[in-house]
Amino acid sequence: MKIISAIIIAGFFLGGRFSGQSAEETIFKPANPPAMQPLTDHDSPAYHAAKLFQHGANLGNYLEAPPKQSWGVTVSAEEFAAMKREGFDHVRVPVGWHHYAGSAPDFALAPEIFAKADFVVTNALNNKLAVMINIHHFGELDKDPVGATAEFLAIWRQVAAHYKNFPGTLAFELDNEPHDQATTALMNPIYARAIAEIRQNNPGRTIFVEPGSWGDIAELKNLVLPPDDNVIVSVHCYEPFHFTHQGATWTGTDFLQTGIVFPGPPATPLEPDLSLKPKPWVLDWIKKYNTLPAAKNPSGPVAFTGKLKYVHDWSEYYGRPVHIGEFGAFTKGDPQSRANFYSAFRRTAENLQLGWCIWDWSAGFRYWDKKEQRAMPGMHAALFDR
Ligand code: BGC
Repeated sequence: MKIISAIIIAGFFLGGRFSGQSAEETIFKPANPPAMQPLTDHDSPAYHAAKLFQHGANLGNYLEAPPKQSWGVTVSAEEFAAMKREGFDHVRVPVGWHHYAGSAPDFALAPEIFAKADFVVTNALNNKLAVMINIHHFGELDKDPVGATAEFLAIWRQVAAHYKNFPGTLAFELDNEPHDQATTALMNPIYARAIAEIRQNNPGRTIFVEPGSWGDIAELKNLVLPPDDNVIVSVHCYEPFHFTHQGATWTGTDFLQTGIVFPGPPATPLEPDLSLKPKPWVLDWIKKYNTLPAAKNPSGPVAFTGKLKYVHDWSEYYGRPVHIGEFGAFTKGDPQSRANFYSAFRRTAENLQLGWCIWDWSAGFRYWDKKEQRAMPGMHAALFDR
């Protein structure tokens, strides 16, 4: 698989995203630092903007790839029309701006990346899709958030200036999945500075922010945001991870077991592949998957329902709309299970008034079959049947 090996070559290891948190731990209690003031206006610009970001697709593995590298994705103008026709209302565009930044102190961005991003943004907007651009895989910020702040702010200064006259349906997301040293606590003041920077020439632009630990729901409680009324919070959720990431080589060795269906239990118990040297906790998960009834099965909606309910309750209490910026299942899972999963997840999110954005449009977790020019089996109904 070309795409996967390119990611491995690029050195990404996304294993830390599996939280293993139990359902009981997800009951909401207000716990953010006192500086995180609840906002009382639920009719604010952020809430209005959130209505435009309900059913989205991530244009993954495209503009976040370093220059001269292809991760196997290309995109044509016609594909944005297809996205709209399928029923999506927005597209999230991961962008590796940092790969195109010159040296300090200006960190001048090469025109090449603006040309590429403009093509995507303009075609999305022309097709009446809302669009969100971010900074994706900015490893320097994860390693040394304070040291990389100058570059982070310089990137946003330039991106904000470039897009200041674009319609309000273009949004910025400050950073994808901060992790390692980029804890929520360290990112809070950095986010506040970036928001202040962007506000100088984009007073009405919607800004998305993600908590640390890879946009983890459990990190919402550590966010401290300025009282800006056009900020939306975004979290990522790949539960049940053993199902969604089965066979994914970029998440370490604990998720290589394939043949996992959704929802469990399977008709015939899954024999663990011992050649993968599964750890005891993996074997324990497989045992539960083989034996627990559907309502309690770890490869079922129980893996995400409590978490999404927590997101909803947190959002209501703090007066901040929350968006699920990434969820999805790798194409190593069987098509029927993938469709079952996407359907169950997005229905749960919708019942809780949470906008969602699938990972991804046409890469390893794809919705769109480029060759056939149609949705992958079962995927259209999974996302859009009402
Ligand atoms: C990463 C992708 C990865 C996906 C699913 C995204 O956040 O950018 O590289 O394929 O998550 O693991």
